[in-house]
Amino acid sequence: MGRGIAQVAAQSGFAVLLSDQSRPIVEAALQAIDSSLLRQVEKGKLPASDRAEALGRIRPAVEPPAMSGADFVIEAIGEDRALKSRVFATLDGICRPGVILASNTSSLSITKIAAATRRPDRVIGMHFMNPVPVMELVEIVAGQSTSKETIETTRGLAKSLGKTSVAAQDYPGFISNRVLMPMINEAIYALHEGVGSREDIDTVMRLGMRHPMGPLALADFIGLDTCLAILEVLHDGFGDPKYRPCPLLRRMVDAGLLGKKSGRGFYEYGAQGTPR
Ligand code: 3HC
Repeated sequence: MGRGIAQVAAQSGFAVLLSDQSRPIVEAALQAIDSSLLRQVEKGKLPASDRAEALGRIRPAVEPPAMSGADFVIEAIGEDRALKSRVFATLDGICRPGVILASNTSSLSITKIAAATRRPDRVIGMHFMNPVPVMELVEIVAGQSTSKETIETTRGLAKSLGKTSVAAQDYPGFISNRVLMPMINEAIYALHEGVGSREDIDTVMRLGMRHPMGPLALADFIGLDTCLAILEVLHDGFGDPKYRPCPLLRRMVDAGLLGKKSGRGFYEYGAQGTPR
């Protein structure tokens, strides 16, 4: 997600500081962004000169102090609340006062993440959809203390990135994953109970409901560990058994079958992440 966000920001004319745990990870991200830009050039959707210009706007910023130059921060680490709180506390100490710290969390409480900082009015959710360069939506989530000014600035940024934003309240899963994840979970239950094969379940939703991908293929695309983490947030947050993650999902995550990123989930994938 971070790569996609960095790519879209650079293509929209912003100078980007791209941070990750180590230089090789940042370099791999830059390569992936370059390949994605190259695909757009090859399809005639992007002038070749724009590819170099966009890439030239992204600077690696591996050590956290490098983020002190940022005017707006978008965090896109894994769905781990304790880790996010640590990262936000660190950013709060590094970034200038007034800088907005946004989280690309898909389900976690913005209010709790904001509580790790001394600027809860300047903390907000900015939830992008995967693949970021293609999907038009950004879900903007205000926490308990997020100021109106922060919401307006973030809406403006989403617009500058060519996205349409919607406002969601800070409840588990917001709007997107509160609606999407129960559908994915139900598809996994249908597979688990033998209601249909993986192909038939996905075909029903692709051809019957015109979804671009079936829910099992989409779960592989999102990552089964991410789906499980989001379902757990819904289940814990609402205390409602309707969000109980399917045991098959749990077992697959335990087995390391995480979907496209691990080469196997409900489907099998080749080296380039293409279905086999
Ligand atoms: N980066 C950039 N562009 C990409 C891309 C990527 N990773 N993947 C695909 N594209 C572009 C292609 O270049 C192509 O562009 P073009 O139309 O201009 O030529 C276009 O997307 C369509 O791609 P393809 O022709 O290769 O393949 P498909 O037509 O099958 O589309 C898809 C692929 C866009 C992924 C489509 O299947 C889709 O929209 N799937 C649903 C995705 C979805 O639901 N995302 C949301 C997930 S939920 C989420 O992110 C929230 C989180 O919290 C869980």
